[in-house]
Amino acid sequence: MQETSDLNVSATEPDWSREAVTQFWQPGQKLLRSVRRYQAAKVRGGVIAKLVCKRWALSHLFWSTVTQSEIHLNTEIAGGLRLTHPTGIIIHPDAKIGPNCMIFHQVTLAGAVELGGHVDIGAGAKLLGPLKVGDHARIGANAVVTGDVETGQTVVGIPARAI
Ligand SMILES: CC(C)(COP(=O)(O)OP(=O)(O)OC[C@H]1O[C@@H](n2cnc3c(N)ncnc32)[C@H](O)[C@@H]1OP(=O)(O)O)[C@@H](O)C(=O)NCCC(=O)NCCS
Repeated sequence: MQETSDLNVSATEPDWSREAVTQFWQPGQKLLRSVRRYQAAKVRGGVIAKLVCKRWALSHLFWSTVTQSEIHLNTEIAGGLRLTHPTGIIIHPDAKIGPNCMIFHQVTLAGAVELGGHVDIGAGAKLLGPLKVGDHARIGANAVVTGDVETGQTVVGIPARAI
């Protein structure tokens, strides 16, 4: 995880450039964009917004299929989420994701998992909620996290332990 120890990444101020769509083939960004646009239209309400919701729900279905990922349309995700190698990512609708997090491939957030800001989750990690992860924490590849992770902590292994 290149930027994991980079405390310059904010845990509170979303950096929207992290999820900007800059090319046609960017399944992670496009999946996220469908969630963002769906949620924005839902908040606006009204007949046109309902149609817009349907349009982005279709896009969400397409990119979810491409990425083989399940990120529910109503999941609370703060800005700046980076989905690096977006495949097989499963996020429970009760999960909450703070600003500027990074999630690698094959990660599962099961149940009420609450990520703080700038949390980086390595490939294949499983977080089994309910649990909370503090700001700037790092979850190692293939870790199975079953309890809270403190701010700035790095955890690895099964069950995950702090290093
Ligand atoms: C957890 C992580 C961030 C720690 O990085 P780090 O701070 O540089 O830690 P180190 O590499 O110095 O390792 C420290 C110790 O933790 C162990 N360790 C590191 N990552 C581990 C992991 N995922 N699972 C089990 N043990 C791990 C190391 O073997 C080492 O143990 P030791 O002290 O007994 O020798 C990193 O190892 C990691 O898992 N990153 C995920 C990267 C990823 O998923 N990349 C996908 C690219 S496609």
